[in-house]
Amino acid sequence: MPVVVIGTMNEERPNYTTIALCGVVEVQPPMIQISLAKSRLSCKNIEDTGYFSVNVPSLDMLRGVDYMGIHSGKTTDKSELFRTFLGEKGNVPMIEEAPLNMECELVSKFEFGGAHIAFVGEVVQTYCSESCLVDGLPNIKKISPVTFSVYDNSYWSIGMHLGKAWNIGIKYTPPKEGTD
Ligand SMILES: Cc1cc2nc3c(=O)[nH]c(=O)nc-3n(C[C@H](O)[C@H](O)[C@H](O)COP(=O)(O)O)c2cc1C
Repeated sequence: MPVVVIGTMNEERPNYTTIALCGVVEVQPPMIQISLAKSRLSCKNIEDTGYFSVNVPSLDMLRGVDYMGIHSGKTTDKSELFRTFLGEKGNVPMIEEAPLNMECELVSKFEFGGAHIAFVGEVVQTYCSESCLVDGLPNIKKISPVTFSVYDNSYWSIGMHLGKAWNIGIKYTPPKEGTD
């Protein structure tokens, strides 16, 4: 799963929380989903403000990122761990050191009878560090994102480039039935 940090505003104080339950649900308009346990301060902040940010940290931020996934803003001030900048809309806090930030406006939420609420936000603005752009586009190697694997409870970095999408399958011949 991807490791991202959710930024929310708790009254006037930014709160940052690490999550892995996150995914893109629409491209145009761009929509992103995050799932938060109801007990999280971030959950309350999103309900109160209608905004959140999704920050993609790089691996050099990892210890701080893990810290933000251990401690709740209910008891720990996490606003000074990294530098904050505010988005264009709604006073949405984002992490300066994170190479990619998405400013999101809440559009929907879903509950499935479990511990979590799935929030869907429209990405109203995206910010990328200049140093992580190649030909004007975010570059995955420069961003150096982190993934999370549930079963070994561990963080993993991305590996090597494997090929071009919508391309390496073009000349693929499916194996005939009965062969390996
Ligand atoms: C790697 C990792 C992934 C996590 N993923 C989620 C998640 O997807 N949803 C969630 O509600 N909590 C997740 N957590 C736990 C929260 O980050 C943690 O409970 C945090 O203290 C909540 O902070 P808050 O109360 O300030 O929002 C994760 C923690 C770690 C370390």
